[in-house]
Amino acid sequence: MAKYSNQKNGLIEQEIAEAAQEIKNGNIVLFPTETVYGIGANALNEKAVKKIFEAKGRASDNPLIVHVSNIEMVKNIVKEINNIEKKLIEKFWPGPLTIIFNRKSEKIIPNVVTANLNTVGIRMPSNKIAKELIEKAGVPIAAPSANVSGKPSGTKVEDIIEELQNKVAYILDGGSSDIGLESTVIKVENNKINILRPGKITKEELEEVVKNVQIDEHVLGKVEKNEAVSSPGMKYRHYAPNTKCIMVYSKSKEKMINKINELTNKTTKEGKKVLVLGRKSNLEKYISSQKWNEGETLNEIAKNIFTLLRKVDKENVDLVIIEGVGEEALGLAITNRLIRACEYNYIII
Ligand code: TXA
Ligand code: MG
Repeated sequence: MAKYSNQKNGLIEQEIAEAAQEIKNGNIVLFPTETVYGIGANALNEKAVKKIFEAKGRASDNPLIVHVSNIEMVKNIVKEINNIEKKLIEKFWPGPLTIIFNRKSEKIIPNVVTANLNTVGIRMPSNKIAKELIEKAGVPIAAPSANVSGKPSGTKVEDIIEELQNKVAYILDGGSSDIGLESTVIKVENNKINILRPGKITKEELEEVVKNVQIDEHVLGKVEKNEAVSSPGMKYRHYAPNTKCIMVYSKSKEKMINKINELTNKTTKEGKKVLVLGRKSNLEKYISSQKWNEGETLNEIAKNIFTLLRKVDKENVDLVIIEGVGEEALGLAITNRLIRACEYNYIII
């Protein structure tokens, strides 16, 4: 059973130091970041990193993000940092942006971290506990999101303690994640930015650095069997509850609400139970007897959505209908997670 430390009880330097010692000893630690919780190991220690794959049940061809606390750590690992990457680092680090770099030919980071790719994803988290943990460990920390593979990422310890407490050496509880969705993952190629996974740093914000920002076709498009992808994580089933889910979206609020009510009506007539997840201000318009508030703003929805998706299976309903949010700004990241949660079962009208 992991040692547990709770910020509410006054998380102190001493406890972060203990967790850092576990990292140095080659063990794995659950820790908060501003995006979602991570399960971290010394990124330079192959054996330690393998423990993460075991704990998550993660496919070995899905690479991990390396978390750093200073730029020297990056320079040790990557071939070069080009001008666009420099600008991105200045503007967005520390923060929720992961940049995919080319690795140095001399392999500082073991292949298990990068799933044998010639590239490596790196980010510098802004969360204070994460930063101190890396600093105290004195090594870059490889960490995927904290969840058993396939489940929504953990955004508070209560949501994941059951599935992970016997698998990690130390749990640092930093309360709810500020953002609630994983980092934006990008790659700079031929002076263009390609978004591989949307997140809190939006396309619109990236365009302030470089005009040419593209969204990878698989951010919203379905990955067909055996199709090549730019980021291995795109291939895997993700975020989906066992209960059937459907996302419904229209730019017209009225159309969206009508469609959701129509679906509710049809499903209820079949003797099945429906749960609607919608914006607070829309809830009263839904005819379903079960409805949950997903928040009002995009920031609130981002912060709440993983916890809600984790809860739906406990409700004993047959269909979960989820309001979509469109693709603008943070909406793109939320939509990307929702369509996966719904296993590409969505209606956009
Ligand atoms: O916010 C986050 O990014 C969180 C926190 C803990 O930092 N981490 C996270 O890690 O979400 P994970 O492993 O759940 O997602 C990492 C994604 C995967 O889809 C993976 O395929 C992709 O990043 N990735 C990592 N390295 C890559 C590489 N070299 N090339 C392409 N994609 C890469
Ligand atoms: Mg993940």
